[in-house]
Amino acid sequence: MKTPVLLCVLLFSQSWAFEFIIDGEWESETSGPLDQSGRYRRSVLTSEEEDFEAIQGNDITVKSYKVESRITSRFAHTTVKSSVFNSAPKAQSIGFNVQIPKRAFINNFTMNVNGITFVGSVKEKTVARNLYAQARARGKAAGIVRTNSQAMETFRTEVHVPPGSKVEFELHYQEMMQRKLGFYQHTLHIQPGRLVPQLQVDVYIFEPKGIKVVTAPNTLGEQFSDLTKITHTKEKAHVVFKPTVQQQRKCENCTESAVDGVFTVKYDVERESNAGELQVSDGHFVQFYAPSDLSPLSKNIVFVIDVSGSMWGLKMKQTVEAMKAILNDLSMDDYFNVIDFNHNVRCWSEDLVQASSIQVDEAKKYIQSIKPNGGTNINEALLRAVQMLVRASNQGLIDPRSVSMIILVSDGDPTVGEIKLSTIQKNVKRTMREDFSLFSLGIGFDVDFDFLERIALENRGVAQRIFANHDAAEQLKTFYSQVSSPLLRTITVHFPENTVNNVTQNRFDKFFSGSELIVAGKLQATDLTTLQSFTTASAANMDLNIQTEADILELDSELGTHQHSFTGFARQMWAYITVNQLLAERSLAPSAGRKRKITQRIVALALEHQFVTPFTAMLVEGEDEGRTERLIAGSSIDSRHGCCSATASLSGPIPVQQLVYQNPPWARPTDDPIPGGASNPVEATGTHEAILPEHVTIVENDPHFIINLPRSNMDICFNIDSKPGHILNLVSDPGTGVTINGQLVGSKKKKNNKINTYFGTISIYSKTDSVQVIVGTDRIDLMEDGNNHSFSWGVTAELMLNRIKVTIVKEQHVTVMIDGRISVMVLLHRVWKKHPVQVDFLGIYMSNDNKYSAKVHGLIGQFAQEPEVKVYGVHEGADPKKKEAIMEVKGNKLAVTRGWQKDYRLDKKRGSDVYCWFVHNNGKGFVDGSYTSYILPRLDSFLSAL
Ligand SMILES: *[C@@H]1O[C@H](CO)[C@@H](O)[C@H](O)[C@H]1NC(C)=O
Ligand SMILES: *[C@@H]1O[C@H](CO)[C@@H](O)[C@H](O)[C@H]1NC(C)=O
Ligand SMILES: *[C@@H]1O[C@H](CO)[C@@H](O)[C@H](O)[C@H]1NC(C)=O
Ligand SMILES: *[C@@H]1O[C@H](CO)[C@@H](O)[C@H](O)[C@H]1NC(C)=O
Repeated sequence: MKTPVLLCVLLFSQSWAFEFIIDGEWESETSGPLDQSGRYRRSVLTSEEEDFEAIQGNDITVKSYKVESRITSRFAHTTVKSSVFNSAPKAQSIGFNVQIPKRAFINNFTMNVNGITFVGSVKEKTVARNLYAQARARGKAAGIVRTNSQAMETFRTEVHVPPGSKVEFELHYQEMMQRKLGFYQHTLHIQPGRLVPQLQVDVYIFEPKGIKVVTAPNTLGEQFSDLTKITHTKEKAHVVFKPTVQQQRKCENCTESAVDGVFTVKYDVERESNAGELQVSDGHFVQFYAPSDLSPLSKNIVFVIDVSGSMWGLKMKQTVEAMKAILNDLSMDDYFNVIDFNHNVRCWSEDLVQASSIQVDEAKKYIQSIKPNGGTNINEALLRAVQMLVRASNQGLIDPRSVSMIILVSDGDPTVGEIKLSTIQKNVKRTMREDFSLFSLGIGFDVDFDFLERIALENRGVAQRIFANHDAAEQLKTFYSQVSSPLLRTITVHFPENTVNNVTQNRFDKFFSGSELIVAGKLQATDLTTLQSFTTASAANMDLNIQTEADILELDSELGTHQHSFTGFARQMWAYITVNQLLAERSLAPSAGRKRKITQRIVALALEHQFVTPFTAMLVEGEDEGRTERLIAGSSIDSRHGCCSATASLSGPIPVQQLVYQNPPWARPTDDPIPGGASNPVEATGTHEAILPEHVTIVENDPHFIINLPRSNMDICFNIDSKPGHILNLVSDPGTGVTINGQLVGSKKKKNNKINTYFGTISIYSKTDSVQVIVGTDRIDLMEDGNNHSFSWGVTAELMLNRIKVTIVKEQHVTVMIDGRISVMVLLHRVWKKHPVQVDFLGIYMSNDNKYSAKVHGLIGQFAQEPEVKVYGVHEGADPKKKEAIMEVKGNKLAVTRGWQKDYRLDKKRGSDVYCWFVHNNGKGFVDGSYTSYILPRLDSFLSAL
């Protein structure tokens, strides 16, 4: 009954170990180096780029073409399906071609030909090949995978089918979204090559933390911009494109399709400022970290530019244009130099120079005047660049917190001096220092990009191919902007002991603004309910330690309720990152034995997670009248680029580490259950000594000051009724250089005909350290000498700036400790967002043990030297519940009222009572002078003498 099917399969890769079959014959089965197949490869590239068509064949009917991507937590699973009918009167080959991103792994391919289903499974390459060879021996044959240039590869299948045949194709691939310049970009090539009755593209995004923005920019051209529909809720987005046949037409009556290009979805996720995001699903975890509100580190950059003869013309013109823009972007804190090389190496300046506008202009003139000619001496040029950085470092010109990098721009292989690539690689690695990075940009296709990539990977950088076309200058600038803003150095992500294993790369040399660091792994212990991670890093003038937490079950139960989410994402993401790391490690492995070991690990993972890698192939099998039919699809060794992220520079073999980390005591939130009842401060003092000193002066609510006087063993309270916006001085100490001010906010509405005021911002400024910490109800700013770092209340972190330690406990409190001597805790009070009256406000807690100088003053500071206080004549007041008394202080006799205020350190909702004697009239008589003399113009102002 079943008609015989002739399947035609080509196996091809951009790099060199390729084998392919035409009409069931292996035409070549070499696994040799590039030059054995290079010529053929290039001719394929050209035709490939010119006439890509998703479905090929004459006189065929394409009934449907559907592409669906499910992106969950930055991991994408894409399915491309098409249904085709051979309406020609004769047998013919029908081609199904898909452009897939180079970074993606094919997972599955199935085909149905006249009812016979062929199902794919990933096998070790030789196994697949042997099974395939058996099938071939019986005269059956198989499919194609072919890679081409750029960032895409082409998957290609051809089936030879009789007239009237119906063929259904289905391809699956997976990839991790990489954040660049602040966005994730998902691209799909939609080039059906003809009008299709059912043409549909769906992209579903699910991000547990929320989607900040999603767009489909310039997708397939102007004419379709209105046809692309985006729906978007907090965590989900759906982008759909479903043009009718009429809408697909290039012009009113033509049969050509205007749908021919790239469908792009760009998005970014919500994140708490500078907090990490930890997700756990299906026994795996993924930690994301993409801080943004940090001051950039300064840079030392040496640009090494190839000006050999081959750069002549457009390439040089574009390089000059890009370099001018790049140099303009340097800031006064940066140092730079330019080295240009052909057979000779010239340095624009002997040493690194500061990027002042004069120097930048000089350098631009120099670059403009370069006339490319001669050979290529990459070795000498790179060594000179490294020496220049080493010299600057030895001379103490390099700020230890700055970032040093070499950016190489080249379009050709070395022809002069040392030309052996492996020797150049060794020379550079030997001279580079651990804290320098090399980024390499290859222009055009005459350059051995694998070499540029190896040399970059080995030296903590990344490589990028620049296509030598009209927008080469734009590509260079874009690459530069990805590395121009380093925010962190030496980043390590670690986990408590015995909680995780098989962790992917968890140490990163640098973090660049707009990118993202990702660490994945498996959960170890089974009785965990939450997983924690700790990220340590250095920012400009600050060391930070961020804590992140995730519930083990929460995400899975949530994923289960969302249609179109990709439930296995964490497991596949872990495998994806691990395989890519192993591929990079393999390309740098020094011995064949080591390479073999790594290959085995790659194969094992690829089989388990169904990835077509350079070492696995997909065997596609079907049954035809009891006989097994097989086809094979795969790619070849080294065709894939190893590095996992532009942000995460690998250095040498992957430094994955199992780290032991203790949960630091400061990371404990205040609303942890306290043994013995939450509202009894006395019982709790022992356990929370650091943040719960016994003698503490408090400002809470609308603002109520509670001054603790330990010698007299009493608390005195007063209110300050000032105006919203006013800045009040709390502590002003010219001796230690510390000033603490608070700014008032008003409630949203009047209550009892009066706007209540609260502290909305607290500033703690240490003049000696030139550090100011501004705690607001929405964020926490740390400023140091022109650097400005912001954190949201959603982060748990410990930060060190000079002698200042800032501890943030998520949504709870911030403690600022100056030189271990002065400590202030600011407690966050959040109200319901739509509360008609109340606003978010801050409470302030200062230990009486703070070591101020004798000159300290301020509404609170003046009580550091405890005044003599006498309270007597206690009697019933107008309100029977409130006793009254006389207080003698500072030579004044005041009428005071017994009352109580709240200490919210242990129970933020109800607080615990602090009994105090209340002084009326804004503390008149108790506080030196009038409260108005404590009003200051700025948050960092000191109080002048009263
Ligand atoms: C590949 O897809 C086919 C058809 O959808 C399915 O039956 C098969 O289980 C898939 N294979 C894998 C490994 O997911
Ligand atoms: C398209 O075809 C219709 C019917 O044949 C004709 O009336 C119309 O003018 C054509 N339009 C164009 C732009 O050629
Ligand atoms: C600090 O930076 C944040 C954003 O990064 C900005 O909103 C804030 O105004 C800055 N603060 C100061 C005092 O410059
Ligand atoms: C994961 O870690 C365990 C324990 O360290 C080890 O035995 C196993 O081989 C690792 N698996 C992979 C895939 O790396």
